[in-house]
Amino acid sequence: MRHPTECVVTAYPDGPYLVRGAHHVVDAEGNEIEVTRPVVALCRCGLSGQKPWCDSTHKLIRFRDPVRHRRRESD
Ligand code: FES
Repeated sequence: MRHPTECVVTAYPDGPYLVRGAHHVVDAEGNEIEVTRPVVALCRCGLSGQKPWCDSTHKLIRFRDPVRHRRRESD
């Protein structure tokens, strides 16, 4: 069972990082952004037009998680 103040980050397959339980996010410039939703998606492909948030661009570019696919190729 998770602690009520715990923040959990999950890598969505070939998509963003899903962050559950965050109260704020700090962007690359050091700006603190308040999080008001229970789950937010952070861009992992690097091409979102709304960084740090995912805007689904990863689907258009068919982003593939290099670690996940490297693991599959070596199996
Ligand atoms: S991971 Fe969704 S736009 Fe980058």
